[in-house]
Amino acid sequence: MKWYKIAEVQPTTEPFIKKVKAGSKSVCLVGFEGEIYAMAAACPHAGADLSQGLCVKGKIVCPYHRYTYELATGKGGEGQNDFVETYAVNIKDDDIYVGISSFWDKVFR
Ligand code: FES
Repeated sequence: MKWYKIAEVQPTTEPFIKKVKAGSKSVCLVGFEGEIYAMAAACPHAGADLSQGLCVKGKIVCPYHRYTYELATGKGGEGQNDFVETYAVNIKDDDIYVGISSFWDKVFR
């Protein structure tokens, strides 16, 4: 897993949703109830930008067709049969880092 420092966002306990880059990945970073979550920015349904959505009860709500995905697991709402990829988040020395696993990391895990 490779860790990427997210320079444009400082750790906060305030709620936020922001699209950032971690290497070549577009990541939707969400602050919710004091925790920070990271997931792919593109909605798996039809590619909408999840960072333009809402956060409700621990789920991101897509701005296009209102599909929902759990912040912690990426699991789609009931009946959706899909998920959004989630990424590890680490706070170190007052900076946010997002961990991206390569294909080979996943194969040899
Ligand atoms: S594009 Fe996200 S729910 Fe359709």
